[in-house]
Amino acid sequence: MRKPIIGGNWKMNRGTPEECRNMLKKLIPLVKGINAVDIVIATPFTALTSAYEMLKNTYIKLGAQNMYFEEKGAFTGEISPNFLKTIGVEYVILGHSERRNIFNESDGLTNKKLKKALYMDLNPIVCIGEHLEEREAGDTQQIIKFQMNETFKDLTREQILKVVIAYEPIWAIGTGKTATPEQAEEVHIFIREFLSQKYDKETANLIRIQYGGSIKPTNAKDLFKKENIDGGLVGGASLDANSFFQIIKAAFKSD
Ligand code: 13P
Repeated sequence: MRKPIIGGNWKMNRGTPEECRNMLKKLIPLVKGINAVDIVIATPFTALTSAYEMLKNTYIKLGAQNMYFEEKGAFTGEISPNFLKTIGVEYVILGHSERRNIFNESDGLTNKKLKKALYMDLNPIVCIGEHLEEREAGDTQQIIKFQMNETFKDLTREQILKVVIAYEPIWAIGTGKTATPEQAEEVHIFIREFLSQKYDKETANLIRIQYGGSIKPTNAKDLFKKENIDGGLVGGASLDANSFFQIIKAAFKSD
């Protein structure tokens, strides 16, 4: 059985220590004692140390939203995975579509970051997903396959087992247009099938695949009920403690 994982990707919000603390003050009591679902909060870099202080005695794991693939040197504006490790970060989101589309990050770059994150013992959450035009042209599977081939290039079985994959259709991110549970499940099955062919069935069945894109308390349950959807990566709705809590509760498969 795969343990569901719910990530809150705060994006460029709640990034001052005070905003971060106020948000976590509301969330921590709500999710107290929940251990059946992995909960990850990815704050902006500027709030990570404040978040760490508040989360260190809870089950909530701390995540970053990006990192560079070198540990130190002349890389103005970049963040070393070593800095993240040192301040208590456990997860890192890589290859988010906003990184890819706004900052032109490629599959190749994401692959380098991924290998480095694994080397540094950070848990990567790697995002993949298609544009609306690609879906409408019937190219979703081809795009997903290409992204996985490039992004997971040269990863061993041991390495891929540490990766959480987030399927985030770009047309569903921040648009209010969620993929239907059936649309999402179809791609999740395709991803698992790809992993099964590249590695083996057992490996594929152990890897967690999150859905992301306009998840809300009202649609979370139906998405998470699907066999191959192992939780979600939540943007907008993670900025409200109560909404995020409702989404976490929806990930208990037995309900
Ligand atoms: P929204 O939940 O705001 O659509 O964002 C999804 C996302 O990009 C999470 O990484």
